[in-house]
Amino acid sequence: MSWTCLPITNKLENNVCSPNVQLPKDGLNRPEGLDTNLDVSGMVDSDGGQIDRRIFSDQQIYQQEMRRIFARSWLFIAHESQFEKPGDFFQTYMGEDPVIATMNKQKEVRVLLNNCRHRGARVCRADLGRTKNFTCTYHGWAYDLDGKLISLPGADNYTEDFKTEDWSLIAVPRVESYKGLIFANWDENAEPLTDALGEMKWYMDAFLDRDPEGTYTVGGVTKWVLEGNWKLAAEQFATDWYHVNMSHASALMVMSPTGKGPKKDIAERTGKQYTDDHGNGAGFPVHIKNRFDAQPVHEYYDYDFLRERLSPEQVMGPMTNGHATIFPNFSYLPVNGSIRIWHPKGPDKMEVWAWTVLDRGMPEDVARAQRLYNLRTFGPSGIFEQDDGENWSEAQANAGAFMVSNTPLNYQMGIGAETQDPDFPGTTSGLYSDAAGRSLYRRWAELMSTPAWHEK
Ligand code: FES
Ligand SMILES: [Fe+2]
Repeated sequence: MSWTCLPITNKLENNVCSPNVQLPKDGLNRPEGLDTNLDVSGMVDSDGGQIDRRIFSDQQIYQQEMRRIFARSWLFIAHESQFEKPGDFFQTYMGEDPVIATMNKQKEVRVLLNNCRHRGARVCRADLGRTKNFTCTYHGWAYDLDGKLISLPGADNYTEDFKTEDWSLIAVPRVESYKGLIFANWDENAEPLTDALGEMKWYMDAFLDRDPEGTYTVGGVTKWVLEGNWKLAAEQFATDWYHVNMSHASALMVMSPTGKGPKKDIAERTGKQYTDDHGNGAGFPVHIKNRFDAQPVHEYYDYDFLRERLSPEQVMGPMTNGHATIFPNFSYLPVNGSIRIWHPKGPDKMEVWAWTVLDRGMPEDVARAQRLYNLRTFGPSGIFEQDDGENWSEAQANAGAFMVSNTPLNYQMGIGAETQDPDFPGTTSGLYSDAAGRSLYRRWAELMSTPAWHEK
């Protein structure tokens, strides 16, 4: 497979679709109150470790998340290896907005709102593929790879005031990548992706930068629906090693060499949790015997080389195990090679999209072992994945009930224990802690309480 390097910064200088970061101009005069914002700051007590349950079930709060979280955060789009030639495209979502990521003739990846400017049908219905343009199947408006309206049937029936350049697809103004992962942001003035990732990059490198040639994805994207608010999954991947011994007891038993399970050993593991003020979080045991990797993959790695290339701490901790979330809804598991996005689909539902990421240098048998290992553990029927999905659905099931929704949730584990460690960047705490959860919801409340670019 050939390898295409994207420019790290892919800022649209002459964005034909959404100049100056505004919503599309129109001649409409909308009533006030359609997008009323609630003051939700009191629903999250990050210092005291308590959260109002309604942030997981309330429709109005969910709509506000679309405006104030998803319309202004860096959102994961795709892996660079999904785009090889001009016209390659991949259909995904930013929040609930359908978007098409496509490589244009200049070999830059553009992200376009998948919404025909005529009557609003999707102009692309395929999950992925290669095309010359996007033609809407309703009336036939056709757009090029940059989203420009290039033809429409019966153009003579419009007056000369009609200008095709006014009716391009809306383009996402910021598209940037880090170590193969492409993110996009509707806020043209958002801080650069690498700044938003902050010291989290050190932890990500332990996953994405083991191989000088980088990474690629195999096996397409696996998708499934879960009955649960998107934050339940994002939060768990940011902060929660606590559930492992209980929720995954049977899976740990199956995977242990003796078949009896390393439960006691695992329960007593020491480890670290990373958190930052962007709401990113990661956790991992730090112990020489702590391994959850596939044996062929373990035997493939040259750990002396990796300790030199990365650092001994990265190899001992976040490379060999762990979990992580990039705020708001992108998560990964470094040892399984799993990256995933938790697409919000209403306050009580999410759609999980998961990829397998492999090092480019892996021989075929190792790559196969890693791919199967990921599917076996964290595919839709994976022995760990099923435990997690069951828990989120259980937590969601009665979230909207009156007494339930007036009973706060507890995030007090490890409160006040956050510290600085010379070997591990950022703010860290013990492995068993809600620190990254408290931080994720602190960031959530901060954004939910601050007007976004489109509210000026
Ligand atoms: S809705 Fe797309 S051409 Fe009419
Ligand atoms: Fe889990």
